[in-house]
Amino acid sequence: MTADSLAAPRTPHSVPRNKGLNLEKWGWVYMRASGVVLIVLIFGHLLVNLVLPEGGVQALNFAFVAGKFASPFWQWWDVLMLWLAFLHGANGMRTIINDYVLNRTARKTLVAVTWIVTAVMIVLGTLVVFTFDPCLGVNPESTLWEMCQAAA
Ligand code: HEM
Repeated sequence: MTADSLAAPRTPHSVPRNKGLNLEKWGWVYMRASGVVLIVLIFGHLLVNLVLPEGGVQALNFAFVAGKFASPFWQWWDVLMLWLAFLHGANGMRTIINDYVLNRTARKTLVAVTWIVTAVMIVLGTLVVFTFDPCLGVNPESTLWEMCQAAA
């Protein structure tokens, strides 16, 4: 094989492989496995939020979201979707960056930024879903006042 040619896909490795955990392989497996689960989560999400409610997309407002976040089922649905999609998207971006960014420093920096942003968004999103309180800051002028008084 010359420097400007690629080996056939199934050519055995000429250098010994590491014996430890093969993260690249498990990343590949994760993309497929999370993709299958994401089909259910994303299309279920679109169906329940946009198609099934009477009035379609017009029915989507603060009260609708507050109602969903009151249910542990939808909290876990959304958190699972958040985690799987962010890790899937970040791992996909890592692959693209590694494929296209030739400068080593730029490549390492971009991959690191991708994972940092992913970690921050996952932590923030998870906190929002599990700590969401529609009555926080509601005062007598708010449309939610009576509902929050009744629930208190
Ligand atoms: C319906 C749900 C989804 C399915 C079935 C799916 C499936 C896949 C699969 C199988 C791959 C690997 C492709 C390869 O290695 O050649 C992939 C790559 C990727 N996915 Fe998804 N995905 C879904 C949702 C998403 C979402 C929501 C995002 C963004 C947050 C995303 C971002 C990416 C990126 C950036 C790549 C890398 C593309 C590349 O390597 O060229 N995907 N997806």
